[in-house]
Amino acid sequence: MSRAPHTPVMLDEVLHALLPRDGGLYIDGTFGAGGYTRAIMGEAGCRVLGIDRDPTVRDCAHLLQSASGGRFAFAFGPFSLMEDVVAAAGSSGADGVVLDLGVSSMQIDEAERGFSFQQDGPLDMRMARSGPSAADAVNRLEADELATIFHVYGEERHARRIARAIVEVRAAEPITRTLALAELIARVMPGKPTRIHPATRVFQALRIFVNDELGELTRGLEAAERALRPAGRLVVVSFHSLEDRIVKAFLRARCGLEGAGSRHQPEQFPAHEPSFTLLTRKALTASDAEAQDNPRARSAKLRAAVRTSAPAWPRDGAVPSRLPDLSRLMEVRS
Ligand SMILES: C[S@@+](CC[C@H](N)C(=O)[O-])C[C@H]1O[C@@H](n2cnc3c(N)ncnc32)[C@H](O)[C@@H]1O
Repeated sequence: MSRAPHTPVMLDEVLHALLPRDGGLYIDGTFGAGGYTRAIMGEAGCRVLGIDRDPTVRDCAHLLQSASGGRFAFAFGPFSLMEDVVAAAGSSGADGVVLDLGVSSMQIDEAERGFSFQQDGPLDMRMARSGPSAADAVNRLEADELATIFHVYGEERHARRIARAIVEVRAAEPITRTLALAELIARVMPGKPTRIHPATRVFQALRIFVNDELGELTRGLEAAERALRPAGRLVVVSFHSLEDRIVKAFLRARCGLEGAGSRHQPEQFPAHEPSFTLLTRKALTASDAEAQDNPRARSAKLRAAVRTSAPAWPRDGAVPSRLPDLSRLMEVRS
């Protein structure tokens, strides 16, 4: 077998938490290069439904599908629609869901996808290759809106200064290339240069915004709650604190651990019966050896829980709301 172009992160820990069993049905909601899917199928005589919203993974998925003897099927789309994928496979529920969030090495490494501030490419960043791009956001949003995106999704301290500089530069000529944006940010950033590239946070913020990553995550966790059978397992690997906070808050609430009470917050009892029990009290992190070998693993956090037999909670899909609406950019685009 040829070496996968993306090294799967915390694979042993994922398998240990997911515990694939013979005859089970598992959803790999972030198929990527199929590293998790292959390992899950290697672990037990089970079936896997792979989902990815990046159309470029289709070839890899279809190769695996033809070699799988009916044990693997691929669906192109967002993982928030995983219930439809389970229904289309003729099943009433899944025994496990795994989500490995963020972008793959293939997406980062291909300059033409526009995710990297280290290589020149179009300012794109769309995982699904459709909808508004990062260039649309950078060239069309108001300075205040850009500053909010950089502040909320990038936790960038100099959000306003960068947003103002973007608006000034784009008045002369649209900003359409990754390096043009990265250089602009480096020029206006105050203070001494640090080890971290000054454009890191703004690029993260634009990527999260353009792909509605946090909205997808919230809806995806709720979809997993509905798709999982009792005793089914949910395993999520996240790569930055915004994602991990959402996963942690979701699991704490669904496990009935929210509202334990403090001096400042009186005790509140969960409104619904717990739909999960926690497998990981604290997030697991990669071993020193893995972090040494694979820099991507250094920021990984794994959280896992087991589905109870309680009904799924009503959807709330709550995400930070001060942010501009992506659909507005779609209107400007057409
Ligand atoms: C970190 S990679 C997954 C790598 C995979 N576990 C492997 O071992 O090869 C993340 C993948 O998830 C996809 N993705 C991210 N968010 C998604 C979403 N909301 N719905 C579907 N796919 C998503 C990305 O396109 C990317 O291919």
